Amino acid sequence: MNIVDPEIMDRTQPIVEMRNISKTFGSTKALRGVDFTVMHGEVHALLGRNGAGKSTLVSTMSGLVASDTGTIRISRTEVAANGQPYAARIRDDIAHVQQTPQLFNLLTVAENLFLENPLVRRKFGIVSHRRMMSEAQALLDKWNIDIRAEALAGELSAGTRQLLEIMKALSRGVPVIILDEPTAALSNAEKRMLFEQVKALKALGISFIYISHHLDEVFEVADTVTILRDGQVVKEREDVGNLNVELIADLMMGEKTARSVRVDHTQADAPVLLQARGIGLYPVSAEGVDFEIRPGEIVALAGPVGGGKEALAMMLAGQLTPYKGKVSGAGGTLPTIGLVPTDRHASGYVGILGVRENVAIGGLDVLSGRFGFIDLDKEAAHVGNLARQTNVIASSLEQAVSQLSGGNQQKVVFARALCQNPQVIVALSPTRGVDVGAKEQLYALLRDLASKGLGVIVVSDEEDEISQLANRVVIVFEGRITGELRGDYTMKDLILRMEGVA
Ligand SMILES: Nc1ncnc2c1ncn2[C@@H]1O[C@H](COP(=O)(O)OP(=O)(O)OP(=O)(O)O)[C@@H](O)[C@H]1O
Ligand SMILES: [Mg+2]
Repeated sequence: MNIVDPEIMDRTQPIVEMRNISKTFGSTKALRGVDFTVMHGEVHALLGRNGAGKSTLVSTMSGLVASDTGTIRISRTEVAANGQPYAARIRDDIAHVQQTPQLFNLLTVAENLFLENPLVRRKFGIVSHRRMMSEAQALLDKWNIDIRAEALAGELSAGTRQLLEIMKALSRGVPVIILDEPTAALSNAEKRMLFEQVKALKALGISFIYISHHLDEVFEVADTVTILRDGQVVKEREDVGNLNVELIADLMMGEKTARSVRVDHTQADAPVLLQARGIGLYPVSAEGVDFEIRPGEIVALAGPVGGGKEALAMMLAGQLTPYKGKVSGAGGTLPTIGLVPTDRHASGYVGILGVRENVAIGGLDVLSGRFGFIDLDKEAAHVGNLARQTNVIASSLEQAVSQLSGGNQQKVVFARALCQNPQVIVALSPTRGVDVGAKEQLYALLRDLASKGLGVIVVSDEEDEISQLANRVVIVFEGRITGELRGDYTMKDLILRMEGVA
C-alpha cells in the first residue's frame, strides 16, 4: 500500500476542493452551486434525503459525471467543469465505490479486485496470474472473507460483492476514497470490519467521503458532516460533535420527521393466511421449521445473515423450494404474494425501463383486460397511485429507473411488490437505501395494508425498523427458530435476543 506522503499530509489542509458545482439532467437540477471541501485524513459524511444530489456530487468529484459549472481540485490535479470527463487524470488520487454495484459477474474475485491495480502488472502490461491470485487470497484472508479468489463474482451474495468492491477501493493506495452507501448489504460483523479499516486508513492520512442513510453510522465513523437538500448545501462542514440524529434528520428533510411506533392489527381469530410445516431451510437441517401468519399481522424475521431468515422468507414467498416439508395457504391455495427481493440491483428492476413499466410488471394479471391486453388507463392510474404511496421521486412515470437515485430505485421495487394487490407481502430489507422520511412513509403504508388484513413478513437487520413495525419477531439461527418475541416487547428485549445469537 502506498502511504500518503507525510510532507503533503496536513490535516488542516484540504485535499478535495469543489467550488460552485452545478449539474442539470434534463429538467432536474441535481446540483445548484455546491461547495464541498474535504481535509486530509478526514471522514466526511455527505448526507441528504433520496434525490438530494449526493451520488451526483461524488460522481462529479471522481470524474464519472461531468458537471455543468464549477472547479474541482483533488490533490494536485485541478479541473474546470467544461463537460469533459477527467476520470483518467485522477485515477491515482481517488477511488469511488458506487451505490450501484460495478463488479464484473463473469470475472473471478481476483480479477475484479486487481483489474485496475498496477501491483499485478509486469512490464509491457502483462498481468501475472499467480501474483494476482496470491495477492487476492491475502486480501480475502485479511478481511476474513471465506471465499476463493477463483470464484466468479456473480455467484456471490450481495453482501460479499459489496465487501469486495470496498476492499478493492481501500487497497488501491489512493488518498481519497468515496463510499456511497457502503453498508447497504452488509451484516453487522462486516460493518464492524469496514469501520475498523476506515479508521486504520484514516490514521494514515487517507480521506473518506461517506454517504449513508444509517445516521447512527455517521456518529461512529465520521468527523465532519455536510448536508445537501434539493441540490444545495444546507449545512457545510459541521463537526459531528455538534449534531445528533434528530437534528440531522430535520436538516435533511427540511421539516420535523417524527418516529412512529408499531400498531397491532393482528386478526388473532381469523384463519391463517400462509403457513409452513416442518420445512427444511438447509439441505442438511435436521429440524423442520414451523411458521404461520394471520391477516393483519406484521412479523419480522431476524437473526444473523445466512442463519436462515432469508431462506425462510424466500420459501414462504414461493421463490425457493424447501428441502423438506410444505408451505401452504388457507384452504390449500397459496395467497398472492408480493416480494421485495434483497438484491434490488440484480433482481428488483430493469434499469432501462421506466417506472411505469417496472411497477406494472408486478401486476400484469390485475392490469390486463378480458383478452389479456393491458388496460393502459388502468395501468397509469394504478401505478401512479402506488408511486405516490411509496413516495417515488421521478421526473415522470416514464423516467428510466437507472436514472433514479438509489433510494428511489428501492421504492420502485417496493411499489412493484404491491402492484398485484397481494394478500401477503414478503419484504427483505425493504427500506435499504431509503431516507429517514421516506422510511416512515413506507412503514405507515405497511401498517395501513396490515389494517386492511394483509399479512406482512419483513426480513431486517435493523433493530429500529423491527421495533417500529413488527407485532411478532421470529429469530432464525442455524436453520432453526430459536426465539420469538410478541406483543409489547421492549427495545431491550429485542437487542438482547438479536445479540444473543449474533
Ligand atoms: N443519469 C441521470 N439522468 C437523469 N436524472 C438523473 C441521473 N442521475 C441522477 N439523476 C437525478 O438527479 C437527482 C439527484 O440524484 P442522486 O442520485 O444524486 O441522489 P442521492 O442524493 O444520491 O439520493 P439517494 O439517497 O436516493 O441515493 C435525482 O432527481 C435523480 O433522479
Ligand atoms: Mg445516491
